[in-house]
Amino acid sequence: MAMIDTQPVKGTRDFYPEDMRVRTWLFGLWREVARRYGFEEFDACVLEQEELYIRKAGDEITAQLYNFVDKGERRVALRPELTPSLARMVLAKGAALPLPLRWFSIPQCFRYEQSQKGRKREHYQWNMDIIGLGSVAGEAELMAAQVEFLTLAGLNCAHGHSDVVIKVSNRQVIQHFLEGLGIGPDRFAAVCVVIDKRDKIGPAAVAAELARLGVDEGASRAILALLETTGLAEVAAKVPADNPGLIALTELMALCQASGIAHLLSIDLSVIRGLSYYTGTVWELFDASGAMPRAISGGGRYDRLLESFGGASVPMVGFGFGDVVITDILSERGLLPVLGRGIDDVVYPLSAVEFPVAARVATALRRQGRAVTVDYTCRRFRHVIERAEKDGAKRLIVLGGNEVRDGVCQIRHLGGEKREERIPLADMVGG
Ligand code: HAM
Repeated sequence: MAMIDTQPVKGTRDFYPEDMRVRTWLFGLWREVARRYGFEEFDACVLEQEELYIRKAGDEITAQLYNFVDKGERRVALRPELTPSLARMVLAKGAALPLPLRWFSIPQCFRYEQSQKGRKREHYQWNMDIIGLGSVAGEAELMAAQVEFLTLAGLNCAHGHSDVVIKVSNRQVIQHFLEGLGIGPDRFAAVCVVIDKRDKIGPAAVAAELARLGVDEGASRAILALLETTGLAEVAAKVPADNPGLIALTELMALCQASGIAHLLSIDLSVIRGLSYYTGTVWELFDASGAMPRAISGGGRYDRLLESFGGASVPMVGFGFGDVVITDILSERGLLPVLGRGIDDVVYPLSAVEFPVAARVATALRRQGRAVTVDYTCRRFRHVIERAEKDGAKRLIVLGGNEVRDGVCQIRHLGGEKREERIPLADMVGG
């Protein structure tokens, strides 16, 4: 019979145990940071109602859906992101939820994207969201949490030689600028989606798509020129002092100063983000060296998503932090930990006659909380010890026929120590 294709589905990954150890380590850091910031973990199903992702602004994510009609004629999709599920869950509970909420999750997400460095068709995404807080203190707290994670992971976030940069903008800067050009809020989300694509499709295609939205050539040029603006002073020079986006960015900078991360922020109006639901602050985290062109993570304020789902307006802000880019960056910098299997003892019965006593010894050791495997292969000592050492076991407990008859077992300490001792079996199995 011909062998099946052993490759995972294009753009998806297998996690062999050694990969899984790294993933568990990464998720552990994410959970630890979320705990330090007082966030509660939640989840939803990977299968969602398709309509949650259908947005009229033309978001790219809608075109990338893994969607189908199920056997009950429901239009469903594998979630490409968690935010709409979060909004649905908040809406479902309504006033029963004590706001503000601080929730986090590590969902697996699916997007039918062109698979390339930093982008797969499936990824895990650490999300932290604050629900019911309109102040940019929320953004500052979320950015500080991201920096805390990066520091725990071993990246340098100190002043002067940081490995990362947080590029920040606020969509209201542009929204109010557009209003000045006669482009109202009804067209704003769609304009954002178009201008976010400018690196991909080029200025001519952007101008053409903007023209379709009724934005004339002069306005297009003015918008694209404004996007070149970096730094708070330059923004302040280009927009009126009462521009709400400028005011929010100024406040955010002051709060980030207080939490010691302001040196990592770079105000950069070129950051738009491709999701149409963002209404205020938007930010993306990048590798400062420029070696990794993809954003490490992205977030923003989305105060009207619940309204768009038919609910009352509730301010929300959060970020999504994928596992793919950060794992690549940590790996390239030699920062991924070398993680062993965590085996404490290998119990080695020399023949099947000693299997019952081996099981008793293993049971007793496990009750003490030790990680134990029993080597039931009855293969040669050399092979058993080689494997035990490779697995990082601390002790090999040899159960030979003669020793068992004499009521003892032989313990060989592995690793640095390499000594042997004979111990009464009664001591091993707890009398
Ligand atoms: P996003 O920018 O689409 O935002 O994704 C957030 C992060 O997820 C990206 O910066 C990247 O780390 C990772 N990511 C996205 N797509 C892929 C992919 N195809 N392969 C690998 N990694 C990927 C959102 O999804 C928002 N829902 C985030 C959010 C939460 N905003 C507010 N709360």
